[in-house]
Amino acid sequence: MQAIIDNIRQQFPILQEKIRGKRLCYLDSAASAQKPLAVMQSQSYLMEHCYSNVHRGAYLFAEAITSEYEKARGLVAGFIGATADEIIFTGGATFGFNLLAHSFGRHFLKRGDKILLSVMEHHANMVPWQMLRDEIGVELIYAKIDDDGNLDMEDFYRHLPSVKLVSITQCSNVIATINPVKEICAAARALNIPTIVDGAQSICHQKIDVQDIGCDFFIFSGHKLYAPTGIGVLYGRAAWLEKLPPFLGGGDMIESVAFDKTTFAKPPTRFEAGTPPILEAIGLGAAIEWLNTLPLPELYHHEKKLLTMTRDRLAKYKMVDVLATPKESGPLVAFFIKGAHPHDVATLLDQSGVAIRAGHHCAMPLHSLLAAKKNTAVAASARVSFGLYSGEDDVEQFFASFDKAIKVLKL
Ligand code: ALA
Repeated sequence: MQAIIDNIRQQFPILQEKIRGKRLCYLDSAASAQKPLAVMQSQSYLMEHCYSNVHRGAYLFAEAITSEYEKARGLVAGFIGATADEIIFTGGATFGFNLLAHSFGRHFLKRGDKILLSVMEHHANMVPWQMLRDEIGVELIYAKIDDDGNLDMEDFYRHLPSVKLVSITQCSNVIATINPVKEICAAARALNIPTIVDGAQSICHQKIDVQDIGCDFFIFSGHKLYAPTGIGVLYGRAAWLEKLPPFLGGGDMIESVAFDKTTFAKPPTRFEAGTPPILEAIGLGAAIEWLNTLPLPELYHHEKKLLTMTRDRLAKYKMVDVLATPKESGPLVAFFIKGAHPHDVATLLDQSGVAIRAGHHCAMPLHSLLAAKKNTAVAASARVSFGLYSGEDDVEQFFASFDKAIKVLKL
């Protein structure tokens, strides 16, 4: 395994850098993953040799870049078990939720309709629905979690028959819980309730097959999947996309425009107004091509092994309180630090080349809930998260630096 990881690391120039003279120990992949050479080179090659807009030019390289853009769509489709016309390129996961809140929410929901979320959602799967609630009067229900951070399925199923939409994460970015989305989607489908699955944290750590999950929509961002920022994907079941009105209006998403009337293109083009993130989408295609060369099941297993090692060692520190230990977890762990603000700890770790995330990780409600439950004054945590380039040496470097940090802070 180490040889595979060493090989992967060779493909990430940033991992060869020294930070404050120390080896970079990057443990913040849940916020954004580093980029392999294949992704960077795809961008610079296009800009050097054949950059133009897509779907517009009649010249040779305009056609070439259009076919690269559409090839990327096909690669995404293949990666998640969809067809290319079910893949909408967006600006990121947040964009995908906003698109659905506008197109689905304003068209298929009305005052008093209920949307079932969970308390572990991050802001992207919460704020757009709150904005919709404030505008049209839908009601939001947040399914609870148990003391270990598992979704409270009894609570979830109690609410399910009364709702018109379910939107839930497959993997929490804070407590790492992997939710039984296949079971959830089957139960919702039996009641004719559409489902949105947030794959922002799951797409990079497990095989995704939207047919197997059985969701109506699946959302993720490219930058957590080793692709550039500014690109995301909204998968929508073809039957749903046909019915959805556009979100943004402008060029490319039209069929015909007159002074008094516009008709819209078919999906997915209907949802891609204006010049799309061309290089970013092609970069996502390059990331997927790169991922397809790797032994992903073994690497996912290895990420989980690193998580277990880290959790087990964290449990030995009296000032550390891991937010949750769910039955099934993605490779990340967040913890409160009694007597210190996580920002101070993260700043001290940085002195040793260790990059972690500290704060509320775009999930303030969940932090407030858990801080109250655990009687913690600071509703912010430190989070260690792994990527395909992570190794046991990262875990060792983290703990060596953490030991130093708690000594400095006299914890
Ligand atoms: N939501 C992202 C995170 O978990 C940014 O860090």
